Amino acid sequence: MFSTALPTRKRRRPEVAFNQGREEVKFGDVKVYLVERRMGKSRRNFLSNLARSKGFCVDDALSGNVTHVVSEGNAAQELWNWLEEQGFGEMQDKHVLNVSWFTESMSAGRPVPVELRHYIQNPAADQRSCAHPSAKPESAVSPYACQRRTTMDNHNKIFTDALEVLAENMEFSGNQGPCLAFRRAASVLKSLPAALQCLEEMHRLPCLGEHSKAIVEDIFECGSSSRVEEILNDEKYRTMKLFSSVFGVGPKTAESWYYRGLRTFEQVLTEPSIRLNRMQTAGFLFYEDISKPVSRTEASALKIIVEEAVICVNPHATVNVAGGFRRGKEFGHDVDFIIKTPEPGQEDAILPAVIERFKSQNILLYSDFQESTFDLKQMPTHQFEAMDHFSKCFLIVKLKREQESRERETDTGASRDWKAVRVDLLAPPVERYAYALLGWTGSTLFERDLRRFARLERGKLLDNHVLYDKATKTFLPASTEEDIFAHLGLEFIEPWQRNA
Ligand code: UTP
Ligand code: MN
Repeated sequence: MFSTALPTRKRRRPEVAFNQGREEVKFGDVKVYLVERRMGKSRRNFLSNLARSKGFCVDDALSGNVTHVVSEGNAAQELWNWLEEQGFGEMQDKHVLNVSWFTESMSAGRPVPVELRHYIQNPAADQRSCAHPSAKPESAVSPYACQRRTTMDNHNKIFTDALEVLAENMEFSGNQGPCLAFRRAASVLKSLPAALQCLEEMHRLPCLGEHSKAIVEDIFECGSSSRVEEILNDEKYRTMKLFSSVFGVGPKTAESWYYRGLRTFEQVLTEPSIRLNRMQTAGFLFYEDISKPVSRTEASALKIIVEEAVICVNPHATVNVAGGFRRGKEFGHDVDFIIKTPEPGQEDAILPAVIERFKSQNILLYSDFQESTFDLKQMPTHQFEAMDHFSKCFLIVKLKREQESRERETDTGASRDWKAVRVDLLAPPVERYAYALLGWTGSTLFERDLRRFARLERGKLLDNHVLYDKATKTFLPASTEEDIFAHLGLEFIEPWQRNA
């Protein structure tokens, strides 16, 4: 029989007291997390093993599945500050408990019902609930974008636009860390079902660091942020923004042009020492058109053109929209299509034939075709690569203008009956289709958090090609996006809810 007296931290314990690895979970509804802070590592290990030996499920990470957080020796305020830093919020089905609940459960050999005396209350909770009449106890917001539903309805645009200016400014100066922090903060605000009502509400949100909070506070109090105004007027920011708006010009090139004293397109184009590559040349040549957003109507017209070309090569292949348009955006900087062939191996023939057809139709303005370098034997890769290995092409094509929009455009001098549009085509092997579709649907931050969640919370590696389980060293099969979410133990998030 187990004695209710738990060992204290000081006493030495036998190392192999429990049959590790053979425990079966008896209480599936309860997932315990022991806070290591103040408890200490060895005592935490001991208690974890003890609980597991009694059929309790103990999570080593503070994941979204944890139902019972158990703390020992922490002051309530300290504990809650720490929990909030981890992105853990108050929710009805989550209990933050004193170790007494754990001790009693151990001696009972089952999870005892949680009583009021077990709880560690959040001291700030009372002050924080907004004095808003309709303020309900809010459900916690996940720190992972793949656990939030983010539609195109952004109720906090005034804050997120500002935070994205800061993110972009950081990206332009090569500060990836702060850039990501601002993007994450903006993303959390985008997922909220309503506009922020009060600053207290902001303090409950995960992923908002000091700097992001200060910006939100400024806007809350003054309607604008002087820091954002400063950036928007900054010469370097403005120049970087202008140069990197050109197809083929990334932040590195933009910066090198800036440091050479160049400020306008004209200066770049007349500078004898600058050699533009093929992509940049096309970027300048069609700048007027491709810097304008592509509409949903234009995307639909392009889909028909791509479909016609694809069906000529393989009548059973299908074309699907990915990228921002699949997420319900009304406008995009390009149109992303992903092609699905019925049989493995058929994907290789598609894109070269589509490109040839566009050429013969005289609608191809630029094309960069990249052959597949995909090899399952090289998977999984532990470092995420920005570019995947599938057969793909980056194109600029002529899209016939509608009569009425042509009439509108004549005022601005455009007499052509076409508009240059950026199109990306992807043709993955059919057994990779689900991963590729998920990867190419975005948003970029949603994808990033899916991979981060898979790795940190589930011990799995996800990219555009595979989902790999590190524990069993196996690839997890998926023929739909739903399969992938299910493997990750995530609720399915619809494409239009991925605008993180
Ligand atoms: P886009 O850059 O087209 O973004 O990439 P978007 O969300 O459609 O936005 P707009 O409206 O065009 O501006 C679409 C998705 O494809 C992925 C990106 O990560 C993004 O999620 N992608 C793109 C890849 O995974 N690999 C690539 O080589 C290119
Ligand atoms: Mn796109």
